[in-house]
Amino acid sequence: MISVAIDGPAGAGKSTLARKAAAELGFIYVDTGALYRTVGLKFSKMGANTDLNCDIPSVLADTTVDIRFVDGEQRVFLDGVDVSEEIRTPVASMMASAVSAKGEVRAFLLEMQRKLARENNVLMDGRDIGTVVLPNATVKIFLTASAEERARRRYDELINKGMTVTFKEVYDDMVQRDYNDSHREIAPLKQADDAVLADTTGLEPQESLELILNIVKERI
Ligand code: DC
Repeated sequence: MISVAIDGPAGAGKSTLARKAAAELGFIYVDTGALYRTVGLKFSKMGANTDLNCDIPSVLADTTVDIRFVDGEQRVFLDGVDVSEEIRTPVASMMASAVSAKGEVRAFLLEMQRKLARENNVLMDGRDIGTVVLPNATVKIFLTASAEERARRRYDELINKGMTVTFKEVYDDMVQRDYNDSHREIAPLKQADDAVLADTTGLEPQESLELILNIVKERI
């Protein structure tokens, strides 16, 4: 099986680019951030805030996260309910960042991700795919762009979905999440030694896609 690991900070365009690149390559696209968001949503529904002042193992013992592919599109299910849209709010983003710092949560989601890569040609995106989840991935890419540009893209995306947010909120959230994600003790966001760096600052979406596809095609 072939696996392409794409890691990078929030808003680097990973999911949009990875989805298109996977379609082009005929691979399934696995958005692992959605798994952390789903777990974050569960804790939020249990009444927890980002301090996660609760018994994490017992919440996880009572949680089922499933990933299913409907017409090639990934859908995520929390305790049997499709939450693919509900996990996209700013609150769910912050909760995802909080739960993703917990070793119990990372262990809870690890095998699901590895199994998908054992059974399918995958293009998987996240923060620790090349470093932890698939250390033997066929191709590893570290995708990034400036914080300003990443916040601008995320802001436009949220506004287009009809959400009420300010650019400053989105920018501040992004800087906070970058900090959390790259400073946590377990599986922090960092470029794997053997990953290719792809910086999309100033690139049009089509140019970024070509950059990714060229990196992959040169190596498989
Ligand atoms: O990519 P995203 O914004 O949907 O990710 C949501 C959160 O989950 C983000 O704060 C980092 C975390 N995450 C992670 O720790 N490891 C992954 N493989 C994917 C996401």
